[in-house]
Amino acid sequence: MVEIISDILKMSRLCRKKRADGKIIGLVPTMGALHMGHLSLIKRALTKADFVVVSIYVNPAQFGPEEDFEEYPRDLEGDIRKVTSQGAHAIFIPYGGTMYPEGYSTYVNVEELTDGLCGRSRPHHFRGVTTIVAKLFNIVKPHVAVFGKKDALQLAVIRKMVRDLNIDIEIDAVPIVRESDGLAMSSRNKLLSREERAQATVLYRSLMEAKKLILKGATNSVLIKSKVNELIEKSTLAEIDYIEIVDLIDMTPVETISEGALIAIAVRFGAIRLIDNIIIKGRAI
Ligand code: PAJ
Repeated sequence: MVEIISDILKMSRLCRKKRADGKIIGLVPTMGALHMGHLSLIKRALTKADFVVVSIYVNPAQFGPEEDFEEYPRDLEGDIRKVTSQGAHAIFIPYGGTMYPEGYSTYVNVEELTDGLCGRSRPHHFRGVTTIVAKLFNIVKPHVAVFGKKDALQLAVIRKMVRDLNIDIEIDAVPIVRESDGLAMSSRNKLLSREERAQATVLYRSLMEAKKLILKGATNSVLIKSKVNELIEKSTLAEIDYIEIVDLIDMTPVETISEGALIAIAVRFGAIRLIDNIIIKGRAI
């Protein structure tokens, strides 16, 4: 039976006991409205840990004042059913307000790395992500934590935080899970109108177009980005936030594509902002 825990101290004590009993503890942090992408993280965690905790918390600290915190989809009942069906052991749903009580003032900030990609259009976003993830790490004290490659910069930032702060937790990453038409699964997809949802396939199509160009020998980032731009602009409802080609390690822009680059895009459909990426390894992706 899955244990549903909302009290921070109770969660902490249960994990401490499991650890003392010799169990390997796995953590899957989420903001809920779970889909197959999240479930693939849980599946991975179950292959690595004896006791898997899934956290569900729409973290206010990672949303800007103009962003969709209020509108962010919530489906606790469905989430509990899905986590249970996967066979995870505990769900941590912290009580509202207890993560950032009155007078809260401590934040974790990974510098520089967070300046590019989503960090540019969402200035305080990653500070909110690293703060909540550090707090979850302290509460659960997992041996391993699983994240998705869909949020490529988030993954890099968390790896950097763990290295810089000497946090003894293995960070594991799972490939992007997509809908049958290629759209990367996201909790925000359900906020799209029918028309927007239909046009949203342009993200993956444009990344595939970039891949095709690279396979044909293109290495010039400017040229590849302009082709991606051209394709996305054909979708009347799409508004491009960024199209970037960056180094896989430090996430800084690359001018000529060689080894280990990432093509990352963010596109808005009305108020909904979608992201996607593909990894390029040399010319064979
Ligand atoms: P959320 O968007 O709910 O995503 C939780 C985890 O699921 C992240 O690691 C994300 O990369 C992964 N994920 C989402 N969609 C995916 C997909 N289609 N394929 C593979 N993995 C996918 O990311 C967050 O929440 C928050 O920032 C969080 C880390 C929980 C901190 O609040």
